[in-house]
Amino acid sequence: MRILILTGAGISAESGIATFRGADGLWEGHRPEDVATPQAFARDPALVQRFYNERRRKLQSPEIQPNAAHRSLAEFEAKHYAESRNDEFLLVTQNIDDLHQRAGSQNVLPMHGELLKIQCELCKEVIEWTNDLDPYQTHDSTSKDEDCPGRLRPNVVWFGEMPIGLSRIDRAARQADVFLTIGTSGLVYPAAGIVQSTPPNCQRVEINLDDTPVSMEFGEVIRGKASEEVPRFLRSLA
Ligand code: OAD
Repeated sequence: MRILILTGAGISAESGIATFRGADGLWEGHRPEDVATPQAFARDPALVQRFYNERRRKLQSPEIQPNAAHRSLAEFEAKHYAESRNDEFLLVTQNIDDLHQRAGSQNVLPMHGELLKIQCELCKEVIEWTNDLDPYQTHDSTSKDEDCPGRLRPNVVWFGEMPIGLSRIDRAARQADVFLTIGTSGLVYPAAGIVQSTPPNCQRVEINLDDTPVSMEFGEVIRGKASEEVPRFLRSLA
């Protein structure tokens, strides 16, 4: 059985990480175009870096831990897909937190990048990074052996930029026997359109607190908290 999973901010909400939309969401306090576009970074790098510095710090605070939904996905993969290859099990996440990886998931594709990594704008090198980043910090400041003068940016995909791994995701979708989406609003493309690439006989399941604009694409809709419904659904599959 080939299984493709897509997660969004809702899976990390019960771990204490704010979602984007809705009351208290990140986009309530900030306009995406002010902090999550290449134009915003060119115009006001201090504001953009502050936004990601705060989120990077919060992600590393001790109270932020994977929840039962993250853990059950990692356990399911370890139990049934430990030796598997060719994306027989693929966990695509729109989240830039590292909670799937911390829970022990192996085959994770963070399609919107990773908060605990940064990228050099010039040479494109990706570097693991846990500290704050200064607005004009350059690659050559990171080590005495480094001479690239490029500016460093968060390794996240901004609006207007190409998400990571799209052809790999499309290949996995076209072959999926099960497509499970968890805690995503179905508003942001191309992630919201992945379901349309799955074959007609694919079992499509949406776990979310509420209906979404793409709910009608799913044969099974499960309404409830990810921490409860994901372990329950995975038990039913096994
Ligand atoms: P959103 O904040 O748009 O949506 C979160 C979804 O999770 C909503 O549909 C909620 O109903 C649901 N939800 C919240 N808590 C839940 C829980 N405990 N259990 C189950 N579901 C829950 O977040 P995303 O859909 O992930 O992109 O947002 C997609 C993209 O938009 C993000 O990756 C980000 C953002 O702009 C970029 O920054 C490029």
